[in-house]
Amino acid sequence: MKTIGILTSGGDAPGMNAAVRAVARTALNRGMEVYGIRRGYCGLISGDVFKMEQRSVSGIIQRGGTCIYTARCPEFRHEEGLQKAKAKCEELGLEGIVVIGGDGSFRGAADLSARGILCVGLPGTIDNDISCTQYTIGYDTAMNTAREMIDRITDTAQSHDRCSVVEVMGRGAGYIALNTGISCGATAVLVPEVEYNLDDIAKKMLQSKVLGKTHFVIVVSEGIKESTESIATQIQEKTGIESRATILGHVQRGGSPTVRDRVVASQMGSYAVDLLEQGIGNRVVGMVDNKIVDFDIQEALSMKKEFPMDLYNIANEISI
Ligand code: ADP
Ligand code: F6P
Repeated sequence: MKTIGILTSGGDAPGMNAAVRAVARTALNRGMEVYGIRRGYCGLISGDVFKMEQRSVSGIIQRGGTCIYTARCPEFRHEEGLQKAKAKCEELGLEGIVVIGGDGSFRGAADLSARGILCVGLPGTIDNDISCTQYTIGYDTAMNTAREMIDRITDTAQSHDRCSVVEVMGRGAGYIALNTGISCGATAVLVPEVEYNLDDIAKKMLQSKVLGKTHFVIVVSEGIKESTESIATQIQEKTGIESRATILGHVQRGGSPTVRDRVVASQMGSYAVDLLEQGIGNRVVGMVDNKIVDFDIQEALSMKKEFPMDLYNIANEISI
């Protein structure tokens, strides 16, 4: 393969820049031509691309967001959009594309691969909700940001003898909530994967109060059915403990990536180029037991990820 492109698609995630850098540098070192495609599949359809040199990706590894921008591109879901993208690839001589994003982006990558443009997907999302991989680029940074924010909220909850109910991102998955909850000593972690009972949580809080506990933190994943405001109101009603709701929101998606995100992104980016160099496409790269591996995209999309109930049980057992 002589010419490849790189794009980022769907929600951005810290570490995407490190992946873009790794893909560009690896491919250039192997004598390939590399194009940066702006704003995901939208840029591919419109031809918003630029030729990358070694210096095009300088000074980006420490930056959050994605320097080639990202987008959700409805047009790409339809045959007409796919054909426009294919025609643009042929015009530019693009034989392969590294797509950094989530499941939706991989569906697009499979569609394009089926039309002759070989794509390799890299898992880039803070949610860690991609089944074929135990780790997604951006997850570690987002968790550490949430952890820092919750620590700050805990300071003020402690000062006022309050309960803080903090909502973290994760879409339909509770991985961010579970891990940040454990790391912040949350009294309860509410995730979409596991049923919860607010009466039981209130009871536990009142028992802890008898033991001398004065303040509480409950971490809520955005994917549960009730609003965080409503959880805080109900907890206050059931316990008499003054409660406040905080939604962390997009603060979790930005910021300088952690070492882990930078390193994994670099490994995955390099691995993607290895595949394309061998003419292998329609694959998703993942991490399993700390090893970088790859899967057929359809197979990857049909996999199911088990929620770590052992960790969830530990979170409950060690919290008061
Ligand atoms: P993520 O990749 O983070 O899951 P989205 O679900 O928003 O984010 O998908 C990102 C983009 O991938 C979409 O805007 C669209 O361009 C493309 N995409 C999503 N689903 C499909 C699909 N079924 N077929 C083709 N392209 C898709
Ligand atoms: O997938 C990443 C994520 O930040 C989710 O955690 C969240 O539900 C969603 O994206 C928010 O997306 P938007 O960019 O539309 O606000």
